[in-house]
Amino acid sequence: MSKQPISTPVIRRLPRYYRFLGDLEREQVERISSRELAQRMGLSASQIRQDFNCFGGFGQQGYGYNVTELREIIGEILGVKSNTGCILIGAGNLGKAIAAHVDFEKRGCRLIGIFDCDPLLVGTSTAGLPIMPLETLDRFCEEHHPQVAVLCIPKDAAQQLADKLISLGLIGFWNFSHYDLRITDPHVIVENVHLGDSLMTLAYCMHAPSEQK
Ligand code: NAI
Repeated sequence: MSKQPISTPVIRRLPRYYRFLGDLEREQVERISSRELAQRMGLSASQIRQDFNCFGGFGQQGYGYNVTELREIIGEILGVKSNTGCILIGAGNLGKAIAAHVDFEKRGCRLIGIFDCDPLLVGTSTAGLPIMPLETLDRFCEEHHPQVAVLCIPKDAAQQLADKLISLGLIGFWNFSHYDLRITDPHVIVENVHLGDSLMTLAYCMHAPSEQK
């Protein structure tokens, strides 16, 4: 497999390839050409070939791609078997929804702890895990070494908490807090999620002049 750095747009397409290939597997499709895959995904065949070439190219001329093999390779690139320990901070409306509805394990993560500062929430449970008080965060991280934090807290609390979590050894943030974290450590990765941005993109595409779509 190629060790070239992969561009962000290609990385962003990989989970979608993985998902479509999972659908194909469930339909018991054994192999697929880049043209057929492109049609299903609304991409061009050359885009798909170019993307897969970043990893050394998986297909065979005249055969196409073996669906299971390709899904496994992309899964490996995405680290779906990495079993990364994950904690969620802020067990309010959003935090509870994420804990209950995101299948962490299918995506290489294991949700191992949920924290909140509200004494009324502490001691209750969500998604089968007890909500723990923030005061126990340090000890929990020392014992369980989570690597990723899902931040579902108000934006005012996000930076301070992220700094603390970095000092406790966390290196990945799935950040829903509507605040773009300032992180100087190059080893720490932040994925900011703004559902509102996605809605605005939709709104733009609906209203933009057709030549700009
Ligand atoms: P919520 O008020 O229901 O929940 C927030 C929870 O965070 C509360 O349980 C609160 O006790 C806890 N909390 C506050 N400060 C904390 C701290 N320092 N440490 C630990 N826990 C703390 O709010 P909701 O609706 O769940 O939203 C949470 C955040 O997510 C908000 O900032 C909201 O703006 C944002 N949000 C982001 C979206 C996105 O697309 N990125 C979509 C929806 C909400």
